[in-house]
Amino acid sequence: MQALQPRASEQCLEVGVGTGLALPLWPKEVAVTGIDASPEMLERAERLRRRRNWDHVTLAGMDAQQLDFPTNHFDCVAALYVVSVVPDPAAILRERVRVGRPGARIAIINHFAHQSGWIRTAERMLAGATRWAGWDLELSSKVVHDTPDIKVISERPANWLGYWTLIVAEVVKE
Ligand SMILES: C[S@@+](CC[C@H](N)C(=O)[O-])C[C@H]1O[C@@H](n2cnc3c(N)ncnc32)[C@H](O)[C@@H]1O
Repeated sequence: MQALQPRASEQCLEVGVGTGLALPLWPKEVAVTGIDASPEMLERAERLRRRRNWDHVTLAGMDAQQLDFPTNHFDCVAALYVVSVVPDPAAILRERVRVGRPGARIAIINHFAHQSGWIRTAERMLAGATRWAGWDLELSSKVVHDTPDIKVISERPANWLGYWTLIVAEVVKE
């Protein structure tokens, strides 16, 4: 969330919030909406929200590929470890841009396919099995760069030996 630099009173969206593991990283001065398609995950996130008395957090069941929010609504949008587990990654990215205001910040942490080397070879070998489990190991970060009305600000390795990628972008629509 640091990469998004959320400011007091801003409206922020966390797509695929899961059990709410990243919710503690949002400042309490920010209004956070977390959505997820799984009622079981949301139930656990809701228990955490209640336990911590997080009045600044709202949770809702929703498909990230078709968000039930108005256009130009959020100041920042985060998606952690979710882009490659949805059937249509391009749709989740388009939706995030749609609900983001012009100038909104977007952060994505995801595994994107490596370009070469032994990791790429291993990814190719494992891709069939992980796709069967709902995780596309071959997804390229091109899907982010190709999203209309988005400007990628930075792209760098993150977490566990840099195997994951953190992309920070800005919504640049009119
Ligand atoms: C790998 S988990 C990551 C959860 C959380 N972001 C975290 O970092 O702990 C992926 C999450 O995406 C959610 N998800 C999968 N498909 C989705 C969809 N189409 N719309 C919304 N959430 C989805 C899953 O239910 C799950 O909670």
